[in-house]
Amino acid sequence: MLKGLLFDLDGVLTDSAKFHLAAWGKVAESIGITLPPEANDGLRGRSRMDSLDFILRGAGQEDRFTEAEKEALATKKNAMYVEAIKSMTPADILPGIPQLLADAKTKQLKMIIASASKNAPTILRQLKIAADFDGVVDPATLHRGKPDPEIYVRAQELAGLQADEVVSFEDASAGVAAIKAAGQFAVGIGDKTVLAQADYIVPTTAALQLSQIEAAFNAQH
Ligand code: G6P
Ligand code: MG
Repeated sequence: MLKGLLFDLDGVLTDSAKFHLAAWGKVAESIGITLPPEANDGLRGRSRMDSLDFILRGAGQEDRFTEAEKEALATKKNAMYVEAIKSMTPADILPGIPQLLADAKTKQLKMIIASASKNAPTILRQLKIAADFDGVVDPATLHRGKPDPEIYVRAQELAGLQADEVVSFEDASAGVAAIKAAGQFAVGIGDKTVLAQADYIVPTTAALQLSQIEAAFNAQH
């Protein structure tokens, strides 16, 4: 029986993924690297330092910088990102999400945030939806990033639920892989070829409907 929903944040509840991508694009440009098209999915769900490593590896420059230099680049990226999200308001909640959260509340489902972002609590406050969630996984306490299942296992534990009692939402292939590795039902939001591993896929959040998702979940359990 469905008892909880576990949510990625960036690219699922709001379009902050575009701010991550833009900030990394500027940092990459400052060191003479142009982000490839695959960075759009590749940077989603990846922790800050993993994102920088992904960019450097893609350019064949993984040994170019010292750890201290990489820290400085990541700090620069975060400063730009923090500036960008300051302007976010409840109007930036993606279509379909307010109804989904309301329906989940009516059904008394537990709701947990499973985002790798240390800025997630700030965004939840800006969007004025922090109180809708029963918990937020603290990414600083994690040992491994998505696609490792750790963050989704932790979110499920925070909800006090089992893997077969939750539905998890993601916009990144690394995130869908993490959900599946945790043995949970995955809803993918985005390109169906990129998110092929998900159990249920919608092109945008506007198409999310709890009754339909629950029917697909029940058919599999
Ligand atoms: C989310 C985003 C990633 C981002 C990561 C870390 O998973 O999808 O693009 O790199 O969070 O975010 P942070 O705000 O901690 O740098
Ligand atoms: Mg995401």
